[in-house]
Amino acid sequence: MSYPYQVKSLEEYKAAYAKSEADPGAFWAEIASHFSWRKKWDTALEWNFTEPKVEWFKGGRLNITENCIDRHLEKNGNTPALIWESNDPDEAHRSLTYRQLYEKVCQFSHVLRNNGVKKGDRVCIYMGMIPELAIAVLACARVGAIHSVVFGGFSAQSIADRIQDAQATVVVTCDGAFRGAKDIPLKGMIDDALVTCPSVKRVIVCTRTRTPVSMIKGRDTWWEDEIRKVETQGLTDFPAEEMDSEDPLFILYTSGSTGKPKGVVHTHGGFMIFTAYTFVNMFQYKPGEIHFCTADIGWITGHSYIVYGPLGAGATSLMFEGVPTWPDAGRFWQIVDKYKVNILYTAPTAIRSLMGYGTQYLEGYQLDSLRVLGTVGEPINEEAWHWYHKNVGKEKCPVVDTWWQTETGGTMISNLAGITPAVPSFATLPMPGIHPVLIDEKGEEVKGNGVSGNLCIKYPWPAILRTTYGDHERCRTNYFATYSNLYFTGDGALRDENGMYRITGRVDDVLNVSGHRIGTAEVENAINMHTGVVESAVVGFPHDIKGQGIYAFVIYSGGHSNDEQLTRQDILQTVSRVIGPIAKPDKIQFVKGLPKTRSGKIMRRILRKIAEGETAQLGDTTTLLDPGVVEEIVVGKV
Ligand code: PRX
Repeated sequence: MSYPYQVKSLEEYKAAYAKSEADPGAFWAEIASHFSWRKKWDTALEWNFTEPKVEWFKGGRLNITENCIDRHLEKNGNTPALIWESNDPDEAHRSLTYRQLYEKVCQFSHVLRNNGVKKGDRVCIYMGMIPELAIAVLACARVGAIHSVVFGGFSAQSIADRIQDAQATVVVTCDGAFRGAKDIPLKGMIDDALVTCPSVKRVIVCTRTRTPVSMIKGRDTWWEDEIRKVETQGLTDFPAEEMDSEDPLFILYTSGSTGKPKGVVHTHGGFMIFTAYTFVNMFQYKPGEIHFCTADIGWITGHSYIVYGPLGAGATSLMFEGVPTWPDAGRFWQIVDKYKVNILYTAPTAIRSLMGYGTQYLEGYQLDSLRVLGTVGEPINEEAWHWYHKNVGKEKCPVVDTWWQTETGGTMISNLAGITPAVPSFATLPMPGIHPVLIDEKGEEVKGNGVSGNLCIKYPWPAILRTTYGDHERCRTNYFATYSNLYFTGDGALRDENGMYRITGRVDDVLNVSGHRIGTAEVENAINMHTGVVESAVVGFPHDIKGQGIYAFVIYSGGHSNDEQLTRQDILQTVSRVIGPIAKPDKIQFVKGLPKTRSGKIMRRILRKIAEGETAQLGDTTTLLDPGVVEEIVVGKV
């Protein structure tokens, strides 16, 4: 069986692409007609990139959870929707059929309703990777609340920033989360965050690690107690709230060049269509297959390709609580063997890390169930691509390199497994409906092949971000003001002789560390919070495993008590507190001054070269306020 919107050959791809170029609205409307709507839309697409304003399927009424759950019940109620593998290989796995998922989501929707959550309210979800996380996400959508999932690795301060920005009224969390050998005290982190978040009236705590927690009277309640109440009340089915296609579904915070992370907003109708369509087509999903996306639901990849995309297509989605290297570097392969996984979707950083451990960790595991391999999050180097293709895919599985962003909601440029050609380290061709263009320094479109430039998108697609929460102007200036009438991605790309796209990386001040986006300004602000720090500048440098590492140049006035190492530890601790451990610099160099122009602007270009070890090509430094600092920095490089 295939899906009515599935592209099944190169010819069909070309035809779909041409159709989407001629009339994007009509192209997506045809696809949307295969999904469940309570009321059909009046207009497929209205847009301008000046305000910007994009509206898909205006007037359409629906609830994304009816599409992801209810509509599968009749024929596929007994198909597993979610399979969960614990962090602990010896703990029993859990599996929820579509029917069971329906029941759990309805139950928790009642819990949310009992705790005062209404349509349009914001709910912050800060949990580990357990099925209850997916259930909480879906229940928010079902009651019409807007979820804001915060990754479990973020600090109390980062959570507080996100809760305040969204003015969330309810938080759903766990006592703690298991990740590898670690036990992360999530509830404790929430308690610290909530000191500065008066908007939060209720905290629902799910039991996972049994870490002792303090429960605040009148504010905190246990997930399990709330479920029991619903059972006692005899509440079962929860009719989904009817939403407008353009009603917000969720906010997800992501880093940019400047300021604090911004809340990217996605909507019910467009996100539903785009995630299911791209899921089916890039992986060429066949009903019954097991799809294993190794991301965390705290990131966009988990939203789109653990929860909404697969469930929208009635697929079986496997979620994993742990990490690839614990208890050893064979964990992924053991899971693939255990569940006979068909599609494995992971990050280049994980592949490079596992490659470093050696192929002996693959031995003894049956991987022949695998049919498609995927990567996402950062450019994949050829060596890692070949290792993955050869050792994991045994040279018989297509590797799809999927390029996209939090803002795009789903995959934009990728080969379609086995349908369009794969080229190592190339994301290759745009998905049908996606129209990339390359722009040069003068702002002109670079036409033809064998060219490079800044990557922009010409027409809207259903899951384009609609706004940045509470600050539409920021959305405009960030994405739509650099080039008129285009969405600017922040990435650079080249288009080779065959029209294949290769993403070369960010062209702004955003780093990609282990596939996670981190703004240099954010890290600098965190470092500068340390009392002894006068000023700092952060740049990226090539890192074998992480893709990019974080290099911080720091002017420190505190005196090191003869121990620079201790000061470094202090600074790392500060960054951990302010943002979270993921943003800790890999290298800290103490400097006396930073290279600045006469107008006081830090010359990052020079610092980047130094961090990359290319000190011979620093370029012109004569325009600097004090060219002498550069030499000193070169000498002191760590
Ligand atoms: O630079 C691109 C890189 O990741 C950025 C988006 O990060 P985020 O919003 O966190 O979403 C990551 C998961 C979709 C992009 O601007 N990126 C993502 N996928 C690829 C990639 N770079 C190269 N190749 C990819 N396949």
